[in-house]
Amino acid sequence: AGPGDLAGKRVLVTLGPTREMWDGVRFLSNSSSGAMGAALAAAAWLRGAEVTAVVGPCEARLPSGISVVRVVSAREMHEAALALWPGANIACLTAAVSDFRPIPYGAEKFKKKTAQGGQLGFDLEENPDILLNMGQSKKSGQTLIGFAAETSSLAENARAKLVGKNCDLLVANLVGVPESGFETSTNRITLLDRAGREESWPVLPKPEVAWRIWDHVSLL
Ligand code: C5P
Repeated sequence: AGPGDLAGKRVLVTLGPTREMWDGVRFLSNSSSGAMGAALAAAAWLRGAEVTAVVGPCEARLPSGISVVRVVSAREMHEAALALWPGANIACLTAAVSDFRPIPYGAEKFKKKTAQGGQLGFDLEENPDILLNMGQSKKSGQTLIGFAAETSSLAENARAKLVGKNCDLLVANLVGVPESGFETSTNRITLLDRAGREESWPVLPKPEVAWRIWDHVSLL
């Protein structure tokens, strides 16, 4: 493990939120900064991999040696990631994909006066689960890494996702606690693999979490 151990590997990383437009100017999204995914992509590149990042709308910066595919919605991210998957050795799905999208109102900006009695309802439909679809089409020799942001029962939910989505490694983190999850430069994670290993790490800067995740991948 360490510098150069990903030389010759093609690594795909998804990162950031997705944005699901409702009208011409409003959307459903979340506060993912893309920092964890950017750290993973940068670390893989520093270790010699050829890295492609599929990036939702966020400010995260990536080294210039990484190919970047910019997307907005979950369906665009799905299409881009699935197209790249057959050519990848390892995929790391760090993006905070919006599970649902509003049924669009239209390209015009919604006018407040259109709402009946001051109330407005939204209908939502389900987005594709990118990780699940990639797990189902995984070939032998490919390594799939999933993430799970949970607010409770971390290890239990994470173990179910590891198996249910056919991942090789699952990185779970608590959200809604200080120093971990969205919009922080640090993360506190639990790592689970198919060999039954489970590790919980202290709060660490995201670049160090990324480096240690690649260390673990080299053991799989
Ligand atoms: O089931 P849950 O959304 O918690 O799973 C999280 C993992 O699945 C993350 O790796 C995330 O990137 C991925 N995911 C996805 N497509 C979705 C929802 C989640 O790829 N629609």
